[in-house]
Amino acid sequence: MNHKNAIKHPIFQYISQSAEELQLDCYVIGGFVRDYLLERGDAKDIDIVAVGSGIMLAQQVAHNLPTQPKVQVFKTYGTAMLRYNDIEVEFVGARKESYNEDSRNPVVENGTLKDDQNRRDFTINALALSLNKDNYGELLDPFNGLADLDKGIIRTPLDPDITYSDDPLRMMRAIRFATQLNFKIEETSLNALANNKDRIKIITKERIVVELNKILESPKPSIGFIHLEKTGLLNYILPELTALKGIDEIEGQKHKDNFYHTLEVVDNISETTNNLWLRWAALLHDIGKAPTKKFSKKVGWTFHAHEFVGSKMVYKLFKRLKMPLNDKMKFVQKMVLMSSRPIVLASEVTDSAVRRLVFDAGDYVEDLMTLCEADITTKNPRKFKKYHNNFKIVRDKIVEVEERDRVRNFQPPVSGEEIMKTFNLKPSKEIGIIKEAIKEAILEGEIPNEYEAALELMIKKGTDLGLTIDD
Ligand code: CTP
Repeated sequence: MNHKNAIKHPIFQYISQSAEELQLDCYVIGGFVRDYLLERGDAKDIDIVAVGSGIMLAQQVAHNLPTQPKVQVFKTYGTAMLRYNDIEVEFVGARKESYNEDSRNPVVENGTLKDDQNRRDFTINALALSLNKDNYGELLDPFNGLADLDKGIIRTPLDPDITYSDDPLRMMRAIRFATQLNFKIEETSLNALANNKDRIKIITKERIVVELNKILESPKPSIGFIHLEKTGLLNYILPELTALKGIDEIEGQKHKDNFYHTLEVVDNISETTNNLWLRWAALLHDIGKAPTKKFSKKVGWTFHAHEFVGSKMVYKLFKRLKMPLNDKMKFVQKMVLMSSRPIVLASEVTDSAVRRLVFDAGDYVEDLMTLCEADITTKNPRKFKKYHNNFKIVRDKIVEVEERDRVRNFQPPVSGEEIMKTFNLKPSKEIGIIKEAIKEAILEGEIPNEYEAALELMIKKGTDLGLTIDD
């Protein structure tokens, strides 16, 4: 079957023409072809393989393009890249490759198209479309990648032990594609992942995180995390999660398996939000449970202060994985720290508790509610309904309390300066005491969040403290 439709974009004509001028064959390969066949929309990254010099082809294309783009050459890899409008095109010469034991840098020899397809990660990524005049648009598929696309299978062209050991990042990629596309990883490949798991150590943390993020951004991230756990990779990447596995039983009392619970929460939240960091928060919301787990005869299993411990662990985890220690990390920490707060409200919704929640969570209160709704994994339909209903009440109350009391991003209605002026004070602890009393009274609903009421309380509190008003 011919696939000319896939390569209608004018860039392909320029590439084809340039290759003819240099008298070499070239093909579009990899993700672009895969995603076209899967109808996943137009990819913006195009990979071109030339039977000959990829760098020279890139230079010829740049010369022929009306935009005359700059060519970026990566000599060590024998590749070149150029941009045409919003498209990024990468060129490589067809290669035969073998790898060093201790790095991902390949030892390269020139090869045929088939050699090049052979050294790629998966059959579905080895599909190539011809850009040559005589068979323009023909699909070259020596490893039955098309059949694997149809059947939904991740399979390596070579013996998987070789493919994964050559470039261990591919272990993450196998699991990532299986998760994104909801594909099965073929059995020998799955075994090879487990056999080669220790090789993941040579991969930089940054690249591992790129794949982790793609797994988390998939429709059902648990697919990936279950593979990561079963192959032993997760224990290397996120031991905080594997530590949540298992159910202990003492004196007939059990707790739930917090690993599988976590995965359910991540899948739930992925149905309601695309926010990657909220998905991270769901993944990490219970990590404090492993180090805080205790059994007492009186109350059974407890995880005292696991939210606090968990939020501290978030920092260490981000640091270890070389993830940015910025406001995203702080957001995840805050979500983990507050992750049990709304659950307390689910049994009894009072105005003051909702005001405190909005006060503490600030602009993140809706995200926090989304996390807590995803956290409802009870299999008891009566309880499931009840918790969701109560959270609906909490959400309505948040809106109501917000309109009336405006405690989100709370600004005290009476300033410290005004307190100082009224009582003729220098900066001192009394100012803090008065401000705190006003804030507490507002949150408890004893006074409205208004200037007059706050002023009155300020005078009363100041007088109670033995201060006199300066006229
Ligand atoms: N490839 C490979 N081994 C890797 C990375 C990439 O064999 N570790 C090959 C695959 O043929 C892949 C192509 O290089 O299709 C392009 O790689 P890349 O752009 O990283 O991935 P895509 O497959 O295009 O997919 P995505 O954009 O989703 O990452």
